[in-house]
Amino acid sequence: MKIIMLGAPGAGKGTQAKQIAEKYDIPHVSTGDIFRANIKEGTALGMEAKSYMDKGALVPDELTVKILLDRVAKDDCKNGYVLDGFPRTIPQAEVLDKAVAELGETIDYAINVDVPDENIIKRMSGRRACVKCGATYHIVNVPPKTEGICDVCGEKLIVRDDDKEETVKNRLNTYHEQTQPLIDYYSNKGILKEVDGTKDMKEVFDDIVKILG
Ligand code: AP5
Ligand code: MG
Ligand code: ZN
Repeated sequence: MKIIMLGAPGAGKGTQAKQIAEKYDIPHVSTGDIFRANIKEGTALGMEAKSYMDKGALVPDELTVKILLDRVAKDDCKNGYVLDGFPRTIPQAEVLDKAVAELGETIDYAINVDVPDENIIKRMSGRRACVKCGATYHIVNVPPKTEGICDVCGEKLIVRDDDKEETVKNRLNTYHEQTQPLIDYYSNKGILKEVDGTKDMKEVFDDIVKILG
């Protein structure tokens, strides 16, 4: 099963993608997580990506597409994957379609997690992230068992550099300009599914399971 998660920054793409990956036993592929892992390791790719991410802008397509195509070509993606944060532009979507079509396959679902901008700013300020395993917490909604420590792998949790209010506003603008058109793109292909991302995260997951079966 090949699934794309769509939605604004902070809509809960990562939260839901992690659970989908577990339930359906497919890898969770997040371009944002890949960039953050590179930033942490201090790679050249990480440094370049950071300069865009810190402004709330998108990393250029050339860079992002290559990373994504390399990742989904790995063995563990043979039976599918859940993409979180990719595609984010129409050209990225077209490259993905072409790569999948070359294998004689198709994307099964594009799930749009719908959350209005007002809710998003509130969520982001409370988010804590694990750079090692990609787990996401919220100091009120989903607190870790031990403050500041990842339940899954024991790593110290961080506040993402791009979760400052100003940057979140820029990320929302970038989303509306460059990523939101993908909703029509996948609707036209007949694979778009919408879920209400303002519900409790367990209910959101139940709604997604109803779609995926
Ligand atoms: P990326 O890491 O993808 O960030 P994003 O899209 O801005 O999304 P987030 O990870 O912030 O939010 P999310 O939807 O995953 O929500 P989460 O589950 O964490 O990208 C970062 C940057 O990298 C981009 O800005 C760009 O620069 C670059 N980049 C990445 N991919 C790219 C690409 N393809 N092309 C170009 N550039 C790219 O949830 C958010 C918070 O809310 C958490 O605290 C969570 O616990 C809480 N929460 C989740 N669900 C609920 C709920 N139902 N109710 C209450 N709280 C909830
Ligand atoms: Mg995320
Ligand atoms: Zn962790």
